[in-house]
Amino acid sequence: MKIQIINGPNLNLLGVREPSIYGNKGFESYFEELKGYFDSIDLSYFQSNHEGEIIDKLHEVGFSYDGIVLNAGAYTHTSAAIGDAIAAIKTPVIEVHISNVHAREAFRHHSYLAKYCKGVLCGFGLDSYRLAVHSFIY
Ligand code: DQA
Repeated sequence: MKIQIINGPNLNLLGVREPSIYGNKGFESYFEELKGYFDSIDLSYFQSNHEGEIIDKLHEVGFSYDGIVLNAGAYTHTSAAIGDAIAAIKTPVIEVHISNVHAREAFRHHSYLAKYCKGVLCGFGLDSYRLAVHSFIY
């Protein structure tokens, strides 16, 4: 089983960025832990701060991989183009967020992506990613 994790803007700064919201761990070290939970899954990780690169990655893996876990960061709340890309591909996408976006500013309550996703997970810290990967297996 092949699963792609895609992180969007500012998530390269996890561990440094607003630690009271996003925690103290960088994604690279978390990704090593995550691979340990799922020995039998071929997990890949991609991060970009650029909307078009996220769309290109969705197109690249979206007709052959078994699942995509996408944290599009603030593009979640602004990008009809990423929503269209999810609608266009065949691979199911799960939208994830580290924080509980519904307990935050109003502009974070709307997602342009959720409608096209298999499901949405938010508010479990980095564990949101593990739960999302797990849900592709069962
Ligand atoms: C986020 C929530 C978004 O609102 C925010 O813009 C992010 C991170 C999260 O993982 O909690 O960059 O997607």
